[in-house]
Amino acid sequence: MVDTLDGKYSVGGVLMDRPFKIRRLGHFGINAIKMDEALRFYHSLLGFKVVDIRDPFPEGRQIPDEFKSFGNLSGYFFRYSHDHHAFVLYNHPYRGATDNRDRWRKNITVNQITWQVGTLAEVVSGHHWLTEKGCNMAKAGRDMPGSNWHTYLMDPDWFQNELYYGIEQIGWSGHSKPWDMHHREFSEVAPLPQISEYQEVSDALKSGSQLTSGYRDTEPLEEKYDVDGVLLGRPFKITKVGPVRLFCEDIAASLAFYRDMLGFIVTEVADFERDPIYFLRNNTEHHSLALYPVRLREKLSCRDDSLLFSFAVRLANYGQLRAAVSFFRDEHGCKIREDIPQVLYSGIDHTVFVEDPDGHLIQLYAYMEQIGWDGKPRPTTQRRQVTPGDWPETIEPTSDAFMGEPFLGPLG
Ligand SMILES: [Fe+2]
Repeated sequence: MVDTLDGKYSVGGVLMDRPFKIRRLGHFGINAIKMDEALRFYHSLLGFKVVDIRDPFPEGRQIPDEFKSFGNLSGYFFRYSHDHHAFVLYNHPYRGATDNRDRWRKNITVNQITWQVGTLAEVVSGHHWLTEKGCNMAKAGRDMPGSNWHTYLMDPDWFQNELYYGIEQIGWSGHSKPWDMHHREFSEVAPLPQISEYQEVSDALKSGSQLTSGYRDTEPLEEKYDVDGVLLGRPFKITKVGPVRLFCEDIAASLAFYRDMLGFIVTEVADFERDPIYFLRNNTEHHSLALYPVRLREKLSCRDDSLLFSFAVRLANYGQLRAAVSFFRDEHGCKIREDIPQVLYSGIDHTVFVEDPDGHLIQLYAYMEQIGWDGKPRPTTQRRQVTPGDWPETIEPTSDAFMGEPFLGPLG
């Protein structure tokens, strides 16, 4: 049961309509069919660093015959910054064969869409509130690797959403948490209060845990590109994840779920050939999630067996975005898309969509319109209109060209 104050809930002393407030997209995950190719694409080409690998058949354990045709069965956790993971890659057919049958759908090639809230209390109260509201809850507790406290629930199309607090932070050494600290995993919603992470580390040190025994990645490419003064394996650096674009079987039901249950704010409703598109946010970004009617999928020549339209990653700046186009298309032969109309990604101007090995669209961009205190987006007529495929060497600044969440730490 969650305490109410005249129908409102205190989120850190501020009265809100629900007992939690999403702050940002924390991580996202794709289920692949061509696993080894996908691993190369996300690791080597996009430059996500591997943080932990979950091998379901470690140390030579026999793989059952029924799974042998699925290829690489491991799950990969990736980061671009200090969050333990910002991207997760799993094997789609293997998940289909082993997940709870009620939690897997063939056309949902996404393993999670994960949103950060501000406190552990918000996760726990949020779990109870969403349960009381009749949401399709999946599980709650604390997962390892990653150490984040969470609750999972399904949206109307069976996209698994997660609310979390407190994901493990990777420091300068690049090692993940030692595997022997994973005993603080919880398979049920956490009783409160919990000891601090600092205390957990103190306890681990006392019991002899080796702090550098966790996984540390190896850069797969030669660091030959001068990226604004730093040598990296590719001519750009991811500095933020999202937005996520979803095709919806019932867009009214999806809108109600994200707006009314999870508390997303509708920034803008666009019209594309008389179909509505909803852009939703949690913070100052124009959108971190956009919803599209599924009938647009064929019109846009998107993969016809998945409800994922695209997953976007922000690169550090326009110059890097421009360099990324040539890196993917010319140096690595990736298929890119520059034919998707700008109205479908309002709030972003220069952009490119790159196809991953399974045909998922990964959108690259460098600028996102920022929303201020009055909640109003920029009028359409005042937005920069871009010609897809046209990449001037330099561009004029907008008023919010460098606004929004800055990237912390070195680029590599
Ligand atoms: Fe997660």
